[in-house]
Amino acid sequence: MSEIQIYGQFPLKGEISIQGAKNAVLPMMAAALLHRGVTVLMNVPVIRDVSCMADILEYLGCRLERQGGCLAIDASHIENTAVPDHFVSAMRSSIVVLGALLGRMGEGSGCYPGGCLIGARPIDLHIKVLEGLGAEIREEEGHLFVCRGSEGIRGAELHLPYPSVGATEQAILASVLSRDVTVVHGAAREPEIVQLCDFLNNMGAVICGMGTEHLMIQGVDGLHDSSFRVEGDRIVAGTYAAAAAAVGGDVLMKGIKPSFLHEPLRLLERAGARIRTEENAGRIQVSMDRIPCCLDICTGPYPEFPTDLQSPFMALLAAAQGISHIEERVFEERFATAEALCAMGARIRISGRRAEVEGVRPLRGASVKAADLRGGAALVAAGLAACGETRISRCGYIERGYEDICRDLSALGAQIRWIKEDGT
Ligand code: EPZ
Repeated sequence: MSEIQIYGQFPLKGEISIQGAKNAVLPMMAAALLHRGVTVLMNVPVIRDVSCMADILEYLGCRLERQGGCLAIDASHIENTAVPDHFVSAMRSSIVVLGALLGRMGEGSGCYPGGCLIGARPIDLHIKVLEGLGAEIREEEGHLFVCRGSEGIRGAELHLPYPSVGATEQAILASVLSRDVTVVHGAAREPEIVQLCDFLNNMGAVICGMGTEHLMIQGVDGLHDSSFRVEGDRIVAGTYAAAAAAVGGDVLMKGIKPSFLHEPLRLLERAGARIRTEENAGRIQVSMDRIPCCLDICTGPYPEFPTDLQSPFMALLAAAQGISHIEERVFEERFATAEALCAMGARIRISGRRAEVEGVRPLRGASVKAADLRGGAALVAAGLAACGETRISRCGYIERGYEDICRDLSALGAQIRWIKEDGT
């Protein structure tokens, strides 16, 4: 795995464009399986998880062509309906491919995605929605086999006890080509869900209620060729905004809708940053010329504070003034990065789902390991604010979701670079 080297305390100044959203493009790629033809996606980020999803689609029989940020998917012929284990274990979100295979082919199978560093991540709600739509599911030796029941995939009234993003995506993908109407009560409201529905409607689906907790999907017989532009990644933008607030500076981010980050930007203003936004132009400006103030943060489903920004904001608060409190209400194990931050001088006490963060200035550079995707990005933010040299290993995690964090931040004046495996 590659390493990142940072020399800290250089304020971030300048402007960058934000990559396309990982958590929007992955379900869209799975949804392309529903159409016996060509689907073109634009502003697709060049990240490992997209490559993994592309490998899955090719294995299933799709033909893909990529040129820069454009990805064309021809799903005219599907030859397989079993997703190989190594894909599912490499990327949990491949579980939504099952819903698309069920909708298109009437069957699909894959291994049970295991838990990971941020929690057990069960799939009981995925199974609930698929069975609610009339699918038969067999679990055998860690594998899930899903197929149409005797009455086929029919519309249903589904009730989600928790607004699971993945389970909402599963319900949408499995019901787009079903007969009659499906209503999902308690649906996730994330911007990525809204984009998935807009993308599918652009392909000829009939979905309404997106962005609310009641989604309605009217099944259709088929979809048509289409092209669609993926919106900017709100978690990447939120990570960079937290980094700018931690080290100081003045950063303009382009290609990102400020409304996607309402709660994180509100908290950054409370921490002392000056935030200027232009919704139609898709721009966010973050200026910070003071020591950040402490905050109390509680994560939750959209529009609450996103769990994916919890670690980057913990890094910011580790270098703030005063004592902050973070409550992680979405995943049960998402404080793994606290240990590495403490190695950089942070004072963090964890108790169950709560963290108390006593700001220390400056943090000190150290050699640390990334524990997961967003935790790795948080260590980058901490390294920018710390004095001296920070080296972050196991950065393969970061490459899963950030196109090139070193490219983006060095364009803003950070002293940051990749260290290749041969040490150069
Ligand atoms: C999506 O994961 C995102 N991943 C995650 O981003 C994000 O953190 C999460 O939504 C919450 O916003 C992608 O979109 C690829 P959930 P997902 O189902 O769908 C529990 C990143 O860093 N749950 O909303 O897996 C679950 O354990 C990643 O980009 C069940 O109990 O999230 C968790 O506690 C990390 N049973 C909560 O719901 C289920 O069947 C939220 O999970 C499903 C979920």
